[in-house]
Amino acid sequence: MSTTLNEQRNETSVPIHEALAQRWSPRGYDAEYVVAAEDLKALGEAARWAPSASNLQPTRFIVAARGTETFEAILGTLMDFNSAWTPRASLLIVAVAERERDGKRLRWAEYDLGQAVAHLSIEATSRGLHVRQMGGFHVDALRAAFDLAPVLEPVSVVAVGKLAEADDLPDLIRERDAAPRTRRPLEDLTIVRDA
Ligand SMILES: Cc1cc2nc3c(=O)[nH]c(=O)nc-3n(C[C@H](O)[C@H](O)[C@H](O)COP(=O)(O)O)c2cc1C
Repeated sequence: MSTTLNEQRNETSVPIHEALAQRWSPRGYDAEYVVAAEDLKALGEAARWAPSASNLQPTRFIVAARGTETFEAILGTLMDFNSAWTPRASLLIVAVAERERDGKRLRWAEYDLGQAVAHLSIEATSRGLHVRQMGGFHVDALRAAFDLAPVLEPVSVVAVGKLAEADDLPDLIRERDAAPRTRRPLEDLTIVRDA
């Protein structure tokens, strides 16, 4: 029988929200799956309603479905170690931070962008989709491919898709996705705890 990988809940000391407990970042996507228009819109809405410093909303996206020229253009900017698994994703989304507006630096632009992508990821999880973010792309190539203005900083590329059946995956992807996922203990995150 076919199975999907790593679908166990993230281990926590107390229960957390189901979508957070289930979220993980696979590489093994169903290469035929098409994300429904409503799901795509919901990912955008989740990102749109993320908080941002002074509500300046510096988040920008380049969104591409597999099979489009834009998808291929993004693929062409990825580092080699990301090229093996990304063509299977349903969507590639470039997460771009507007770092400056009206001559003023937006100091929290990348922070706000990350938060928007986190919201998008959780919305995706709640809809049975998965997300894997990538910092491994060639920034200058991506800038050139989309003629990005200097104030627009491409920060990550986000792959979105449906988890494939393990049997349908190339060995390399299946093995990497089956590797144990670990976290530092909660205490390691805390500098001071007085609560
Ligand atoms: C900013 C950022 C950059 C990342 N870059 C890559 C990448 O280039 N390639 C990749 O395969 N995974 C990348 N990842 C995925 C992480 O390796 C992954 O989130 C981490 O190992 C934790 O696993 P989990 O998301 O399944 O909990 C990146 C994640 C983030 C948030």
